Amino acid sequence: MHMIDLLASGVAHDFNNRLQCMASVLSLIRVRVAAGRTSDLGSLIEVAERSLDSAGKLAHRLMTAARKTPHQSDSLFQLNDALLSMSDLLRCIAGEGIALRLALSDSVTRIRCDSHLLECAIINLVINSRDAMPKGGIITIETGNTYSPKGDDGQEYVSLCVTDSGSGITSDVLEKVFEPFFTTKPPGVGTGLGLPMIRHFVDRAHGHIEVHSTPQQGTCIKLYLPVAAES
Ligand SMILES: Nc1ncnc2c1ncn2[C@@H]1O[C@H](COP(=O)(O)OP(=O)(O)OP(=O)(O)O)[C@@H](O)[C@H]1O
Ligand SMILES: [Mg+2]
Repeated sequence: MHMIDLLASGVAHDFNNRLQCMASVLSLIRVRVAAGRTSDLGSLIEVAERSLDSAGKLAHRLMTAARKTPHQSDSLFQLNDALLSMSDLLRCIAGEGIALRLALSDSVTRIRCDSHLLECAIINLVINSRDAMPKGGIITIETGNTYSPKGDDGQEYVSLCVTDSGSGITSDVLEKVFEPFFTTKPPGVGTGLGLPMIRHFVDRAHGHIEVHSTPQQGTCIKLYLPVAAES
């Protein structure tokens, strides 16, 4: 498949995820208004506004994709700050029966990458974990400082690990999870673009990705992103 076609499908996929985020927040608002619980609506409205803003940025990215050089949208930031600012949104995505825990290491250093693509990657991982736990469960997002999983290349990495207590992945499925359009979900639920888009982001950031899974016990997907050289 041509790279531009894949990227266009991937951006449309992430755009659709943002629309789904807005739909979940609106339905939560509707439930709370119906129950007369209006005191914390402000934070839910903020989550919806953030998703709207991100969807707008994604649309802009699609329109300017051919014009931008690959690393033009990279920025220097703290992974923990990015996760904390997304926590309300991630809890809305996970839904009521799933506990979302953040285990953020104090020592995490700064990274340089496209923060917007990183957000899309985190949303994709949380959606996958949610879908693997239809009866509820736990999602843990952990950060840390580490070295390369591929031997000592002298590079330090920040790790981001999303672990769930869901259905897990069998070995025959595990071989295919990064193939574009590979999905085990029913039509209309999954398109098979989440993990290929995450791999594209990680490759672009010169990082690594690992998938560890035990059927019936759960899955852990770990991203390694290079620590930014301070300038
Ligand atoms: N946390 C997980 N637990 C169990 N299976 C998973 C998990 N993450 C991914 N998978 C498996 O990998 C497949 C591919 O994932 P991917 O995110 O690329 O596509 P998708 O979730 O099926 O569809 P999309 O992300 O496009 O909506 C999934 O269909 C599922 O079988
Ligand atoms: Mg997915």
